[in-house]
Amino acid sequence: MSALTVVTTPAAQTACDALILPLAANHKPLDPSLARVVAAEDVPGRPGEAVVIATLGLLPAARLVLAGLGAGPVMPEEARRAAGAAVKALRGREVSRIVIDTAGLPELDGDGFARVVQALVEGALSADYEFARYRTEEPGRARIAHLAVAVSTERQAQAEPALRRAGAVADAVNAARDLCNEPPNRLTPAAFAACIETLGADPRLSVSVLGRAAMEELGMGALLAVAQGSRHEPRFVRADYRPAEAPNLDAPLVLVGKSVTFDTGGISLKPALDMERQKADMGGGAAVFGALTAALALDLPLAVIGLFPIVENMPGGGATRPGDVVRTLSGRTVEILNTDAEGRLILADALHYARSLNPRAIIDLATLTGASSIVFGPVGIGLFASDPALAAAFQQAEATAGERVWPLPLWPEYRELLRSRIADLRNISTTIQQGSMMTAASFLRAFVGDEPWAHLDIYNTAWNEAEHPHLPKGPTASGTRLLAQFLIDEAQRAGAPA
Ligand code: BES
Ligand code: MN
Ligand code: ZN
Repeated sequence: MSALTVVTTPAAQTACDALILPLAANHKPLDPSLARVVAAEDVPGRPGEAVVIATLGLLPAARLVLAGLGAGPVMPEEARRAAGAAVKALRGREVSRIVIDTAGLPELDGDGFARVVQALVEGALSADYEFARYRTEEPGRARIAHLAVAVSTERQAQAEPALRRAGAVADAVNAARDLCNEPPNRLTPAAFAACIETLGADPRLSVSVLGRAAMEELGMGALLAVAQGSRHEPRFVRADYRPAEAPNLDAPLVLVGKSVTFDTGGISLKPALDMERQKADMGGGAAVFGALTAALALDLPLAVIGLFPIVENMPGGGATRPGDVVRTLSGRTVEILNTDAEGRLILADALHYARSLNPRAIIDLATLTGASSIVFGPVGIGLFASDPALAAAFQQAEATAGERVWPLPLWPEYRELLRSRIADLRNISTTIQQGSMMTAASFLRAFVGDEPWAHLDIYNTAWNEAEHPHLPKGPTASGTRLLAQFLIDEAQRAGAPA
């Protein structure tokens, strides 16, 4: 992790390898020595464009990077893109000390400024990410060693906590990306569970891991049915984050993350094209893992429990067949008509388990349906919520986190489409593909009862096809920023200082 600091010396007088200047169209007047170098180039117009200028001794910084912020109001996501583009533009150069100057921002109120600073730093650290663990011939680049943000003395008090939040969120995102990038022969259910167990080294967090026998004892028939085709035993992991003080110690927030380490579809086998992406079918679990690391890093005064149903979905002689009927932890039976609709099965047991924890709210994240990509394309997360306050909280987190969410319906008619003739429910709707985002969510709802609940379907945003200013191609850690920001906001709503 990079060292993060706030500096109040004018950036134009600060020595570093690169000075990043995010520039809004309506910025305040710049320091004359800075303005002279800026005038040497056309300022990029759009967030996500950046130019590198050699300063040739005109400034103490070896390079100046102009990063466009656009002409509109500066929202956190524009800032994240600008800083991300600047760091990307610096790739291949020797830069270990970077300063981000806030002098080119427009007038912002205190809260707006803090959110933009957080986003600038998040964008820079997120763009610096690379997954090079398994390359032996071309090792990974050196990461940014020192990142400073230059602010005026009046802004220092706001900038410092913003930087701490940025560091925690960026670490959460990069940890989740690492987990999603891990090849599926390495990140087996046991390996993922072991990784979550390492969080238990902190006394504020305790982790318990259930293996197959314990799950059988409890009656997690749906989770076990998905796991039974794999040589790798499933795990059910519970991670309790309990800070010394929190207003909700007896009513925790419960976060549930779909954690399928590889989804072949099972006997309802998926086509071969792009199947390797199914290694990221534990993206929901990765986001919950990331959010817990952020809660630890920020010492958030909130009780949070993470639940991880971890399985590999494989075909084979022992695998579940289409037509099998299983008994879920809730006691209700499910007719499995498509073994590729496995996420909802493991979540059914995890959500029912969550109900026993006296939750203030249950939130699940899952790479649940291909339909999410039909509905939204690669932009935006479908949000299903049984509780309007919870939906509003995610809609509040979205602007800061830069991950869009959009509410979708849980109409009772969808539940009707999940009626089975021989069991309590079927795992795919009678309309199969049509409306499957909603029918999948309705299936989950059947297992949460009346608890306040929100479900985020993150499949469509989980994998980046194109290069993006602060997210390289590949796994995006979708939902991680949103969930971490939701926890930060919740702690603030509960009265914790920023
Ligand atoms: N992990 C997948 C989501 C997915 C779907 C990823 C398509 C990539 C492409 C999920 O488990 C799944 O297979 N969903 C199915 C459900 C269907 C069988 C009802 C889907 O959405 O196609
Ligand atoms: Mn599937
Ligand atoms: Zn899946």
